[in-house]
Amino acid sequence: MPNASEARILLASNRGPVSYTVEDDGTLTPRRGGGGLVSGLSAIGEEVDSVWVCAALSEGDRAATRQGRTDPSVRMLDIDPGTFARAYNGIANSTLWFVHHLIYNTPTSPVFGAAFRREWASYEAYNTAFAEALAAAAAPGATVLVQDYHLSLTPRLLRALRPDLRIGHFSHTPWAPPDYYRLLPDDIARDVLTGILGADRAGFLTQRWAAAFADCCEAVLGAEVDRDALTVTHQGRRTRLGVHALGADGDFLRERAHRPDVDARLSALREAVGGRATVVRVDRTELSKNIVRGLHAYRHLLRTRPEWLDRVVHIAFAYPSRHDLPEYREYTASVLRTAQEINDEFGTPTWQPVMLHVDDDFPRSLAAYRLADVALVNPIRDGMNLVAKEIPVVSDEGCALVLSREAGAHAELGEDAVTVNPYDVIATAEALHRALTMPRGERTDRCKRLAAAGTALPPSAWFLEQYTALTEGQPPE
Ligand code: G6P
Repeated sequence: MPNASEARILLASNRGPVSYTVEDDGTLTPRRGGGGLVSGLSAIGEEVDSVWVCAALSEGDRAATRQGRTDPSVRMLDIDPGTFARAYNGIANSTLWFVHHLIYNTPTSPVFGAAFRREWASYEAYNTAFAEALAAAAAPGATVLVQDYHLSLTPRLLRALRPDLRIGHFSHTPWAPPDYYRLLPDDIARDVLTGILGADRAGFLTQRWAAAFADCCEAVLGAEVDRDALTVTHQGRRTRLGVHALGADGDFLRERAHRPDVDARLSALREAVGGRATVVRVDRTELSKNIVRGLHAYRHLLRTRPEWLDRVVHIAFAYPSRHDLPEYREYTASVLRTAQEINDEFGTPTWQPVMLHVDDDFPRSLAAYRLADVALVNPIRDGMNLVAKEIPVVSDEGCALVLSREAGAHAELGEDAVTVNPYDVIATAEALHRALTMPRGERTDRCKRLAAAGTALPPSAWFLEQYTALTEGQPPE
């Protein structure tokens, strides 16, 4: 367990590996999360002193932090709730997320006025709190891996405090092309880029997002970009760009998908589906996931190809996300409304065309993965999209994958998927038909290749790859 200033490896992310719930009797219950970073860090080994710096998100987290009850390897920052909300909801999720996913309704938004400036000041304070905590916990020459758009300013702020550290930043989202990125106020567009360029290495999920970042550095900062060597030089400092395509954890999924709780849910789903073909989608209800257009495409399929009536079921799991934001609440309502319209239009006493669930249930998701004839993954834009990689690994009979060309995963899976333009619901309906009628042998062969490509870089290898690239590089200049 590291003392202050002794950690050799530090991770920084908004959401940490554990969260606390306050029980009715006042006790605190910890819940450990999963995900790529958790398995990645454990792959480095227990013997290396590590600290994970994250924000206290819930009341339980704040209580655990104040009572000194958190695990010593997790440092939760008890940031003022107003500051946190403005940074997380206002800037990270309503501004940077919208920019990188190209989801503004530009005739009316964004409006960068006084309220926005207040949010930006909070984002700066939040990033400063992370930089200070990391600077205090890091051993001399330690390695720090900063995650995502919540913490785009932290690398530069941390470098100013601790020039001895090796700093990496990783973006889990897409990156916007320059014309769209320049919606941001000029000073803020510069600050976000120079913030990340404070790192020795900036990592991305695909070549496309790394190239977009480099394009923005060139267009906005006038930085020098070497596209072959993948470096950006700005004001005398060079930052290397890296691409690490996070894959699905095949071993974990295969084992987890055959436990009794999944089997039980699979039986229930099978009964409800009644031997019909299935189109499966599983998403957090993000604006970028394009669930409503997916439903429109399915409706178009039923309207134009009556041979599918009573022969297919669309299993759509749309789990809650970011309900503090009004746009997300409205979007969830429109998902529910559209699914209901389809069931009203086509449903019969014995056939429910759309089975929509909005309550999160991981074993039930795995059961749907196993049952999938067709997986529908049609985001407007997505950093990677792990569901596209997971369903082919788990599906019992081999599934066909309908995949948006705007998902990061398309770079690796495109050849064996049925590719769609996410805005074109007629083409998506046709793609669903093609996927549903794909000959069994072709479907099995494609699915095998999709599963192999989707598990090429599982989370622990993904983490080690970027850690090694960062630590093997030149020491900080
Ligand atoms: C998605 C994105 C990640 C992001 C995460 C944050 O999974 O792909 O880039 O870090 O959302 O989610 P949260 O629930 O913490 O807002």
